[in-house]
Amino acid sequence: MTCGTPFTNLFPSPQQHKVTQCTVDHSMQQLQLVAMDFITSSTPPLLTTIAISIALYYLLFRTKKPSPSSGKRAPLPPGPRGWPVLGNLPQLGGKTHQTLHEMTKTYGPLLHLRFGSSDVVVAGSAAMAEQFLRVHDANFSCRPPNSGGEHMAYNYQDVVFAPYGPRWRAMRKVAAVNLFSGRALEALRHVREHEAKLMVTSLSSSAPPMSVVKVGEVVNVCTTNALARAAVGRRVFAGGDAGGGGDEEGGAREFKEIVLEVMRVGGVLNVGDFVPALQWLDPQGVVARLKKLHRRFDDMMNGIIEERRKVAGDAAGEEEGKDLLGLLLKMVHDEQRLAGGEEDRITETDAKALILNLFVAGTDTTSTIVEWSLAELIRHPDILKQAQEELDTVVGRSRLVSESDLPRLTFFNAVIKETFRLHPSTPLSLPRMAAEECEVAGYHIPKGSELLVNVWGIARDPALWPDPIEFRPARFLPGGSHEDVDVKGGDFGLIPFGAGRRICAGLSWGLRMVTLTSATLVHAFDWELPAGQTPNKLNMEEAFTLLLQRAVPLMARPAPRLLPSAYEELA
Ligand code: HEM
Repeated sequence: MTCGTPFTNLFPSPQQHKVTQCTVDHSMQQLQLVAMDFITSSTPPLLTTIAISIALYYLLFRTKKPSPSSGKRAPLPPGPRGWPVLGNLPQLGGKTHQTLHEMTKTYGPLLHLRFGSSDVVVAGSAAMAEQFLRVHDANFSCRPPNSGGEHMAYNYQDVVFAPYGPRWRAMRKVAAVNLFSGRALEALRHVREHEAKLMVTSLSSSAPPMSVVKVGEVVNVCTTNALARAAVGRRVFAGGDAGGGGDEEGGAREFKEIVLEVMRVGGVLNVGDFVPALQWLDPQGVVARLKKLHRRFDDMMNGIIEERRKVAGDAAGEEEGKDLLGLLLKMVHDEQRLAGGEEDRITETDAKALILNLFVAGTDTTSTIVEWSLAELIRHPDILKQAQEELDTVVGRSRLVSESDLPRLTFFNAVIKETFRLHPSTPLSLPRMAAEECEVAGYHIPKGSELLVNVWGIARDPALWPDPIEFRPARFLPGGSHEDVDVKGGDFGLIPFGAGRRICAGLSWGLRMVTLTSATLVHAFDWELPAGQTPNKLNMEEAFTLLLQRAVPLMARPAPRLLPSAYEELA
């Protein structure tokens, strides 16, 4: 199944759904009753005929096709009654994943809500996630249209928002082959390791006593620069200072501001996406911000491309394929086709949209989880000690962690899985959409429904996870309750990267980067909280935007714990 038709055609007005799907059944029943009344009472024959005709008309022409399995339309999944016009939007609160988790406790693991005029279904258990992302995955392989896809992501010409179909598949493959395949990952290993080393340098360069740093920012510099070098061949944050500020040249500063603004705007739930009547008003100013941001990103990318063209001069087609952008531009120059058809030649817009995706989907998702992992370890000194002991045994104290060490870090890998379980970067995954109506677990799912999978809630289901709120990496160790569970989309109780056809395209990069960066921080430093804070009272509150960030950024003081030679090597 594909959803290659433009989104506007594919997504009929949800208002139409409502009329046909909800009210017809009731009105039909009423009419039948009225007709029966007429027939059974002493009614004149003409009225009887009219009543029977109306009833027959409704029966034959106005009823919706019954669901193939039951012969009668299944009911919608249960859910709370919403407000007029806005539906359940006002009930979501700031932390939607938590609200939906609570609703699941009341209404069951499959919810039906309305966001404005859109049908929304929420999968709140591993079994439901499996139904949507494995059994019905083909039907849910598109993303719902929204202002971000339209105004920021080149009108859905990217990978994240693109309709499921040959162009999406081809674009995804370009990224997979050149960045995320085993071979590409290995070829770019030195880039990730080098950025991790620069992070250690920036943290260890000041003389003791070291100052307190904002851990998330330091890590973000590392993850963003590693990805930027792979994607556009340059770092975007200047190194040298732990906060990621410092003497950045104009281009780098612009890049950084754009990435940060994308995250901020992306986190706003745009009411206009769900209430068409409010779209033109843009009440939260989201569309205006997206358009402005898009222009800035586009100008910046055009500048980078122009610069490359100048350098390449006559040999424009020979642009080096050292980074993804170079490779994409060469494909554009060679007029390569993406999906076979004449109209499917790859364009510069495709290239820019893909680069945009990597930055938006691949930077903060990664750094956020590293910050959570360190916070959990600081909060659990016994687990931190065990992790450091393992790192000392496998890596030693005379050098930093390298990627080749990672497979041997059994305990540390369990720490990372446990962090993904409790603090998944995208707690509601990314939304999908029903291309066709279908029936799931005995409930009717209308065509065009938006699907949210509560990854966060599922990973806290006590039926699946004993003591779900406890940070307990041992559950993933050999002999533990979940020793064979991983995060790669096969175990529906733990799907921080999603699952099915649209599973995270950068899973391999993200997982590698998260594990390397966290292990490096824990191995190279001891961590002390600022005066007045104690590990067991560390604030672990969540602030939900698009990503599951910490409400209070983690601040901690690093103290080198390796032999001096391990740090000198970096000079
Ligand atoms: C810890 C890191 C990451 C997490 C937790 C994460 C999570 C996710 C999730 C939940 C989805 C939606 C999956 C679905 O619909 O089932 C997704 C999609 C995606 N991610 Fe990631 N991601 C991470 C890192 C990355 C990285 C490093 C990149 C690229 C550099 C990336 C690129 C993408 C793309 C392109 C998609 C859209 C895939 C599609 O629609 O076909 N992600 N990610």
